[in-house]
Amino acid sequence: MAILKIARMGYPVLLQRAEPVADPGSAEIRRLVADMMETMEDAAGAGLAAPQVHVPLRLFVFRVPPERGGADPDDKPVGNTVVINPELELLSEERVLRWEGCLSIPGLRAAVPRAPRIRYRGVDCDGRPVGGEVSGFHAGVVQHEYDHLDGILYPMRMTDFSLFGFNEELTRAALAQQASRS
Ligand code: NI
Repeated sequence: MAILKIARMGYPVLLQRAEPVADPGSAEIRRLVADMMETMEDAAGAGLAAPQVHVPLRLFVFRVPPERGGADPDDKPVGNTVVINPELELLSEERVLRWEGCLSIPGLRAAVPRAPRIRYRGVDCDGRPVGGEVSGFHAGVVQHEYDHLDGILYPMRMTDFSLFGFNEELTRAALAQQASRS
């Protein structure tokens, strides 16, 4: 396995619409998926889409870390998962702001409007169906990764740019606010 080089914002591959995967079970796709999972873990990310590693194909990997999944039974922790040729349906017009980062936009995070509940489906490398109806963090990470397959980065979804900043400054500000309250 290998750690792959991640394309950062400004790289044209991130703005392309990716192509369907012809053979999810091929040796090339299996190797790509294994490498993407290793790269996601190495970067401590929750998701990684193929265009982010310079491969314009419709697949992504993600996980719901134990500390991110909520009490909601539709937002349980999920181990490393691949979704190939996904379809995505937003289950309401409602949008909630979710704090997100992106491995292609290192050091920053922002509050991004997302559907609170979605239905998605795709296949894994053995052609088995993956997906379902999910909420919360799980729904947010899948929307974020799916957007990468259509050339959409989270700043292109933002509505309030005052909720955009560097991780360390946002953390510092949150800590200062906590201290002033106590
Ligand atoms: Ni991303």
